[in-house]
Amino acid sequence: MSTPPLSPETQQHHAPLDGKVVVVPGGTGNVGEGIVRAFLLAGATVVVPGRSQERLEGLAELIGPQLGDRLIRLPAGYGTFAEATDLAERIVTDHGRIDHVVPSIGGWWRGKALWQVSETDWQQHFVETTTSHVAVARAFIPRLDADGSYTLITGFAAREPYPQAGIISMHGAAVLMMREALSAELRGRRRANNLLLGPVISRSRPNGDPSWLTAGRVGEAAVAVALAPSVRDESIRLGTLEELEKELARMRG
Ligand SMILES: NC(=O)c1ccc[n+]([C@@H]2O[C@H](COP(=O)([O-])OP(=O)(O)OC[C@H]3O[C@@H](n4cnc5c(N)ncnc54)[C@H](OP(=O)(O)O)[C@@H]3O)[C@@H](O)[C@H]2O)c1
Repeated sequence: MSTPPLSPETQQHHAPLDGKVVVVPGGTGNVGEGIVRAFLLAGATVVVPGRSQERLEGLAELIGPQLGDRLIRLPAGYGTFAEATDLAERIVTDHGRIDHVVPSIGGWWRGKALWQVSETDWQQHFVETTTSHVAVARAFIPRLDADGSYTLITGFAAREPYPQAGIISMHGAAVLMMREALSAELRGRRRANNLLLGPVISRSRPNGDPSWLTAGRVGEAAVAVALAPSVRDESIRLGTLEELEKELARMRG
């Protein structure tokens, strides 16, 4: 039987990440919100950087006051190498450590065949999002605690082409290979994994097939990865809730 999701009431008695500092770039997003909530429920202090003060405030409202005291909102970008390095240095200065990083950067886009995309589309949906991922990885990996982990979020489009969404697939494929390259370079010194997600029910898409993931359950999976030292250098496929339950059972042993 699966473990029920944690609630604020149970969290007091079960806070496996108490005292840990978790950074969620993209935490203001649809999937990011579920990841942020799950780490807060697990007892962590969660730092969410964001380019927009309004979106950061919106996240705090969604999370609510009960968990919000450990949610640290940082109005700061990470779209360039310099910005991401400044951000990572600031978090170490403010909190003394970085235990887990879960980048959930960039969302969905569709509408043009590859031969129709404009240079602006390419810049926005490939160059900027891919650069942010690289900037965050190079800034945070060297500052991760020895027992820490790095868990990228990406979607099925990284492995399967979706017509009119080719740029998103190319971005996802680049990020997946970045994770594999990081694992090859780290050679076990830090854990680097990725979650490969199917469709996710979230605040912007509240309805969907009952077999689909939800943002909250994706968050549970990200927490399970952070808590499982044996999970390293993996691409964890989470297409449906059924797959997620199997992976949770495996990771939680
Ligand atoms: N939603 C789904 O159904 C689904 C399914 C499978 C996989 N995924 C994956 O989940 C991840 C997040 O998706 P999402 O649906 O949560 O997306 P989203 O709602 O659009 O959120 C994306 C987040 O990325 C941040 N970001 C930073 N730099 C960005 C840039 N240059 N361009 C765009 N966003 C940028 C944004 O932060 P700011 O606050 O700074 O704007 C925002 O919080 C992606 O890897 C996506 O492939 C999502």
